Amino acid sequence: MIWKRRGKSPETDAAIDAGSVDDQSKATSPERAETNVMTKSPSAQPMPSTGLSVAGEQRPSFLDRLWASSNDPMRAETMPRFIASASDEVENQGEGVLMRRRIALRDAIGASQPVTDREHFAGRHDALRQLIDAVEQQRLHVVVYGERGIGKTSLMHVFADTAREARYLVLYGSCGTETHFANLFRAFAARIPRIYHRAVVPNSPEAEAGDSFDVMLPPTFGPRELAELFSDVTGTRVILILDEYDRVTDAGFRRDVAELVKNLSDRAARVQLVLAGVAQNLDEILGYAPSVRRNIVGLPMRPMTPEEVRDMVGIAESAADLEYADAATRLITVMAGGSPYLVRLLAHHAGLAAIDTRSAIVTEAHATTAVERVLTEWNASLPRRVQQSLSREDARAKWPMLIAAARAGSAGDGLFTAEEVVTELEDGRNAVVIEQELRSFVGPNDLLEAEAKEGETRFRFRYPGVSALLLMSSAMARLSA
Ligand SMILES: Nc1ncnc2c1ncn2[C@@H]1O[C@H](COP(=O)(O)OP(=O)(O)OP(=O)(O)O)[C@@H](O)[C@H]1O
Ligand SMILES: [Mg+2]
Repeated sequence: MIWKRRGKSPETDAAIDAGSVDDQSKATSPERAETNVMTKSPSAQPMPSTGLSVAGEQRPSFLDRLWASSNDPMRAETMPRFIASASDEVENQGEGVLMRRRIALRDAIGASQPVTDREHFAGRHDALRQLIDAVEQQRLHVVVYGERGIGKTSLMHVFADTAREARYLVLYGSCGTETHFANLFRAFAARIPRIYHRAVVPNSPEAEAGDSFDVMLPPTFGPRELAELFSDVTGTRVILILDEYDRVTDAGFRRDVAELVKNLSDRAARVQLVLAGVAQNLDEILGYAPSVRRNIVGLPMRPMTPEEVRDMVGIAESAADLEYADAATRLITVMAGGSPYLVRLLAHHAGLAAIDTRSAIVTEAHATTAVERVLTEWNASLPRRVQQSLSREDARAKWPMLIAAARAGSAGDGLFTAEEVVTELEDGRNAVVIEQELRSFVGPNDLLEAEAKEGETRFRFRYPGVSALLLMSSAMARLSA
């Protein structure tokens, strides 16, 4: 597992509406995309890991320089400033061409939003093909799952576009912790025109009224009543996308959705569900639902291949009229560890670094600058006291152990045991010694927190951004070694 899973911050929770439903035009709107900006905090990123032992690894000197001075030039260099007016007009005419390239680069591979159109969607042909096949050939319901930031929402948008071309009615809904079954599906029903009901005759008063399916729902309803209504859909096929399904905390909601899937399948209704969410396996996202296993297909999303990374870099190249040297692409590929988010982040920064130096070629040096800028930004986003904890001598001395801890926490909920750190570290020391070392970083103002459960102590990085930084610097140290 090369991905780091993390919970969302309370701020992120607040930023995303609970159980909203959009039709496709809204799903691809900037407003919709905007909500995801919040989810891409430095603390929520998948991280590269090489799978090798970390014993003996050194802290990169770049970090020492970073922490040596709070007036680090790198910080000044990355101080944000607007390069164009809000209407995208370039202010500085003399630098106009460079500015336009910067804007084109941002629009092509800016990392903060999911992809909403095919033009900017790299690779993933196999995932898209499997999804279409499951919906069209097998008439199944689908669960798309994978690590945070692996590209689920982007795939949903592009799939929705493709299905709409084939005249499917595609409705997109985003789940939240408070999502309520009846509210969510009533909102979906409100987007299905009543003319698609088999009992509604064209040109009849009902058809002319411009109503939707929601008017045919009783005040309270469950999955059975809903499936009954949906089984009367005719003249089109409906796809309901439930994104961010992992955020639903109510087990009752998941049971109802499973029941709906079962009922829709039994009635061969022309309504199919596509669920998407963060999970490592189908059970984790679906909950215990043996009755629907025959009606649902799970589609895991995997890390991007080097060819797909190349494809993504190609999008940046044609948008901003740049050329990424092979060595630069290779470095980005290794550092990103298959995360489309990190590929975009690094390729974007590397492209900007090249434009800054008026070079049309993005070199390995530009890619290295990109890694350093990303590390600088992540470091800056950490509280000052956490930066101090990281920069102290003790942390330098125990650097390999900290890297091993970051790796050990890179799956699931971020928790890890001393045993797991021992496995990653492989330096001959036992769990008792490692546990003691881990404890030396536990504290309200320190790097780790500890919890005792069922006789076992489990640790977690207090700020997930710390493990992101550790893993990226580890990958960096390995590359330079
Ligand atoms: N196929 C792709 N081509 C280009 N960029 C992609 C692709 N897939 C994902 N990305 C980029 O990766 C980042 C994460 O993508 P996305 O938001 O779709 O992931 P996600 O799995 O839905 O994340 P989360 O788990 O936070 O909901 C975004 O910046 C997006 O633009
Ligand atoms: Mg998403």
